[in-house]
Amino acid sequence: MTMELQGKHIVLGVTGGIAAYKAAELVRLLGKAGATVQVVMTEGATHFVTPVTFQALSGRTVYTDQWDGRIGNNMAHIDLSREADLILVAPASADFLAKVAHGLADDLLTTMVLARDCPLLAAPAMNRQMWENPATQRNAATLRSDNITLLGPGCGDQACGETGDGRMLEAAEIVEDLVAFLQPKALAGKKVLITAGPTFEALDPVRGITNLSSGKMGFALARAAREAGAEVTLVCGPVSQPTPRGVSRINVTGALEMHNTVMERAAGQDVFIGVAAVADYRPKAAAEHKIKKDGSAPPAIELVQNPDILADVAALSQPPLCVGFAAESRNLAEYAEKKRRAKKIPLIVGNLIQDGFGGEENKLTLFDDNGQTPLPVRPKMDLARALVVHIAGLLDQR
Ligand code: C5P
Repeated sequence: MTMELQGKHIVLGVTGGIAAYKAAELVRLLGKAGATVQVVMTEGATHFVTPVTFQALSGRTVYTDQWDGRIGNNMAHIDLSREADLILVAPASADFLAKVAHGLADDLLTTMVLARDCPLLAAPAMNRQMWENPATQRNAATLRSDNITLLGPGCGDQACGETGDGRMLEAAEIVEDLVAFLQPKALAGKKVLITAGPTFEALDPVRGITNLSSGKMGFALARAAREAGAEVTLVCGPVSQPTPRGVSRINVTGALEMHNTVMERAAGQDVFIGVAAVADYRPKAAAEHKIKKDGSAPPAIELVQNPDILADVAALSQPPLCVGFAAESRNLAEYAEKKRRAKKIPLIVGNLIQDGFGGEENKLTLFDDNGQTPLPVRPKMDLARALVVHIAGLLDQR
């Protein structure tokens, strides 16, 4: 994980619920991402996990009591929240949500929340009936309209043995949502369609022609566009990448299927980004059964050309802003500009294969009507965020 929360100071409120044990992992992940964490627990939370656990993990004194004499001016509720970039409450119990919705402040955490001048995010965790109860739903709606961000809850097995909505998100999901919350919303309300990964062109039921492509850059872009507030659809070939939260993913195999899937959705999109390494050719026909070695000459493979997805989207009567990728082994500027003209697209993102293929980092050069913009070596996620800002700028110029 990169240090995506470097320099952030987070007050983590822990309320009484069995998911409090997951908050221990959350403190570790927040710390790994570069944040400092100050834990505040309700009295109820201390029945599930002790303050010592959080003290050891956060390296800071844990506060549980508004009458704690350790703070000189006895204003822990003010002091703790003034230092924070945000307050995150995870798990947030039904009782906590109800109190905040009604402005109640009868312990340190709720008093601090009422006195805050920073954003509040809460990850609800409770039995599904408690979550579905109209009172809780009313409170959740009040919190949302008060600009409080609810993360989840998720759906699934619950500690009580029931299954349904109300589970706290996993610690890693909460961190991903938190990082997203902190990003500028350069693509708020926009629709973005992205292709990623390789395509696989079948020869027979088990063999085929494909490209080496990890899908990392396309998935990073999907996540960055989502973080920036866009509604993101990711059409991807066979890859083993986790779907970024909030992104709708469609798995495809061959280039023709990718082409159809994209063309059905391209109208009405604001941006189309072709990151996929689409096979240029496919076998004319895939054998129905596995091709056998029978001792005679090796079979010839007849190939036909695949459609150019990016060029076809760019040729629509009202195309989205189209962005292409050019991975080259030499003459980057010349080849990238040539591709940009051939496909009639406003922006092409060039990279040299030797700079980042398959790895965690890369170095990009953006080619558009304004000239070249180099993006020096950085983790792919950082590059994706910078690219999203650049694309938002081009959308504004349109
Ligand atoms: O033509 P070339 O493959 O070099 O161009 C690369 C760019 O075009 C990438 O953005 C890729 O996703 C896109 N492309 C496509 N359909 C193809 C071939 C490439 O969308 N059949």
